[in-house]
Amino acid sequence: MMRISYSLFVILLFSFCAQADSSYPYKQASLPVEKRVDDLLSRMTLEEKALQISQLMIGPNDNPNNTVTKKTSFNPRIGSFIYFQADVEKRNEYQRIAVEETRLGIPLLFAYDVIHGFRTVYPISLAQACSFNTNLVYQAARVAAKEASSSGLNWTFSPMIDVARDPRWGRVSEGYGEDSLLNSSFCVATVRGYQGSDLTEPDTIAACLKHFVGYGESMAGLDYAYTDISDRAMWETYLPPFKSGVDAGVATLMTSFNDINGIPAVCHSFLIKDVLKNKWGFDGAVVSDWGAIRQLKNQGYSADPLQCGAASLKAGNDIDMESKIYTKIPQMVDQGLINIQDVDEAVRNVLRLKFRLGMFETPYTKTNLRNRYLKKEYREVAQQLAVESAVLLKNESILPIEKPSKIYLAGNLLDDREALLGSWLAHGNTNDVVGIREGIDRFLSRKSRVVSQPKDADIIILCLGETKKMSGENGSRSTLQLHNANQIDKYTQYDKPIVLVVGSGRPISYQTIEPKVDAILHIWQPGVEAGNALAKLIFGLENPSGKLAMTFPRTVGQIPVFYNKHQSARVGNKNWSGLYQDIESTPMYWFGHGLSYTTFKYDNLQIDMNSLKASVSITNTGNRKGKESLLWYISDPEAKITQPLKKLKNFEKVSLESGETKTVTFTISPMEHLSYIDSKGSILIEPGRFVVEIGGLKESFILDEKDYL
Ligand code: BGC
Repeated sequence: MMRISYSLFVILLFSFCAQADSSYPYKQASLPVEKRVDDLLSRMTLEEKALQISQLMIGPNDNPNNTVTKKTSFNPRIGSFIYFQADVEKRNEYQRIAVEETRLGIPLLFAYDVIHGFRTVYPISLAQACSFNTNLVYQAARVAAKEASSSGLNWTFSPMIDVARDPRWGRVSEGYGEDSLLNSSFCVATVRGYQGSDLTEPDTIAACLKHFVGYGESMAGLDYAYTDISDRAMWETYLPPFKSGVDAGVATLMTSFNDINGIPAVCHSFLIKDVLKNKWGFDGAVVSDWGAIRQLKNQGYSADPLQCGAASLKAGNDIDMESKIYTKIPQMVDQGLINIQDVDEAVRNVLRLKFRLGMFETPYTKTNLRNRYLKKEYREVAQQLAVESAVLLKNESILPIEKPSKIYLAGNLLDDREALLGSWLAHGNTNDVVGIREGIDRFLSRKSRVVSQPKDADIIILCLGETKKMSGENGSRSTLQLHNANQIDKYTQYDKPIVLVVGSGRPISYQTIEPKVDAILHIWQPGVEAGNALAKLIFGLENPSGKLAMTFPRTVGQIPVFYNKHQSARVGNKNWSGLYQDIESTPMYWFGHGLSYTTFKYDNLQIDMNSLKASVSITNTGNRKGKESLLWYISDPEAKITQPLKKLKNFEKVSLESGETKTVTFTISPMEHLSYIDSKGSILIEPGRFVVEIGGLKESFILDEKDYL
């Protein structure tokens, strides 16, 4: 009886109050956001609040890791949708129902994983990091935001800034490599690219830093695995990229799946509440990862969904993505598991996001936008990024091919356009991809030709690579060997120079491959302009400038291996660590390795102690134009908390004509570049000797207390 009358009441309420009064303060665009939030919050029922902080998927879902039945009906009072389609009319119809047919008319948010482009798919994030070109990555994120926003999206679950040091983990492809500073720098570039300077502009989308935090430390490189992270590693390595993104004004953050030293990230109140919200002042919205609250049961946290929901909410995780547990908030309140303040805080953060995005003023997406994808200027950005992210690992004077030549082309990558796009391709389409054959045909000089038999060739170009499914989410591998590396042996018998082109979503083990080929060009998963970018590099119309953002081990047994390790207790072993008895102990290619068709010479490294300005001159000593990324490292050889052998502190990419010299400077800020962090997150600085290293040159200086006090 009670239930019937409640439903009746709700129906009546909806029919009579379908349109909220337009004079309500929350409807007034001229009022400050916080006033509007307060007003709207004060009008919401507990059930409305519970729905507002719930996120569901609508329509089809193309993520094989997140299976769910296709939903067609929905409750328009839900807070946000994951929207896998690009159908603007359908999206606007959902929105119309939310805005016009619900009591308060709160607009829906439409979110999606736009990871490396929406339709104009550009290189994967790990490749982008190898470009060391943050400006180009900013432009690529702008392109993604334009295509995504014009397709009805308000929010992307990107960038992923999980520092990753285990190449077995498939998701290394989605982040910016093994170094914290690189992840921070590309984080800032992408956040600015997606969000522009004003989130209310129609061509911007909210960014989302993920996965908070330490997900990249997944044990044994397995996805969704437990992580054991010391407090110092957390502060020193995993948290800084998130801090940079928060400082850059990111709108949202996603908590991760992993269990951190026994506390699952989604209910880690110290990290979410104390660090992110209180210490760093983040007032955007925090969303869980897909089903993460429900999964707390699997992680051994609690078998009771209500306990799991209460723990996440109280920890500061504002939005429940697809666990369908926050919809039970009224029960949690009834049982005394949470109080209304916990709920209000989360709702406040979601409403604030909607006001910041201007959704109450502009809830709909324009439908008459024609030709919104793959514009010429979008493809240009994708191509330049593919060019600059390719890494020339080896070159025995074979590349570029500029003399008239007969070329034999082989390998699985020639015809696998899906592999060239990589994982998380959003609305990318294999028909949009310029394939490798197509690119080679387009840029082959008139006097060269592609031959049909390897025996007739002057040069063999062998294009091998991982397939799309070999990396990305749940794409872990126990070996770093190329699955089809045995193809190389088929061609070595012809005794012709072999150029090996490799595409992958992770570092590859080149130990046994390298001696068999004359050149190796690692192109990652380059996106829609793959063929054009590769052909321009091969024929010398472009000069490679990528450097590795992740160290390539010789074999999987060297993992974890990354450049900023600590010095070993027994020095003498190249200052690095003990020795493996069965292989050369150094990795195959270090972080920062990458060749060019020209040569660069670094000279005259100096440090001006008055201004703490380091300078170095760089000369292009070869005979063609090239770009060089200057990587500034600093080491602190004596510290109370021992420091890594070196740490990247700054980087800059310069372009130099043949013979040209430029002087590049780096102003050292003691607190930013010479300090270190302890296990409580406190920043410490000690006077003493520091060493600056760049391009093989080193220069030390003494820091006095007066230089920073
Ligand atoms: C992934 C997230 C992603 C989410 C939504 C999860 O499985 O871990 O990175 O944003 O799905 O698609």
